[in-house]
Amino acid sequence: MNGGFQVSDRICDVDIMVRLSPSILSANLFRLHEEVQQAIDSGIDMLHIDVMDGHFVPNISFGLPLVKWLRKETNIELDVHLMISDPDRYAPEFARAGADIVTVHVEATDHLDRVLQSIREEGASPSVTLNPATSLNTLEWVLHKVDMVLIMSVNPGFGGQSFIPSSLKRIEDLAGMMNRVGVSVPIEVDGGIGPDTIGPVVKAGAEVIVAGSAVFSANNRDIKGNIKKILDEI
Ligand code: DX5
Ligand code: ZN
Repeated sequence: MNGGFQVSDRICDVDIMVRLSPSILSANLFRLHEEVQQAIDSGIDMLHIDVMDGHFVPNISFGLPLVKWLRKETNIELDVHLMISDPDRYAPEFARAGADIVTVHVEATDHLDRVLQSIREEGASPSVTLNPATSLNTLEWVLHKVDMVLIMSVNPGFGGQSFIPSSLKRIEDLAGMMNRVGVSVPIEVDGGIGPDTIGPVVKAGAEVIVAGSAVFSANNRDIKGNIKKILDEI
């Protein structure tokens, strides 16, 4: 993962590299090209694609064809979040479709280790995530096998939900756990992030920030302006 927005932590006085990964779940799909292009022109270098199957989560969204088209038409890093049952079957296919990062839920498979390995074998970066009520201990034996860990700060399934405040402690606890076991991969956070919540999540230790409705449906189509408003609050 390259690029990012370098910001200074005003309290600790250190430079942190924060990456914004806008979620196209909230984009105007009729104008997807225009909206994604505005986001790319703003300097973002990851795009978050929420894949939902109507089974693991109560919503249906995008699938393989969208990932293939985005891969064909853009160079942006594709950050694919699988909210699907049976990721064992589909995760390698998303990697082959052009995803750079494929994130799998611990709750969705009995064979987490195997599915993460299959993503790497297909040349993509494996990443793992968990619902807000799932114990962080479920990550312990895969932390050294992933390139990123995603903390869900809403219950997965929909854009536009409110940030769950206990997610801040989960980010801190995860950072502590990674420290203890000697793993240093970025922590991503997803759900309810906007100008009001980005500051605390970055301070807690998140480096990759997903923002859907705050970027693509902030009551305007000014994607660039919305991205700037979020980054200005770090
Ligand atoms: C929720 C998805 C999120 C969603 C975030 O299940 O995983 O990526 O798009 O949307 P906001 O930023 O609106 O909470
Ligand atoms: Zn997501």
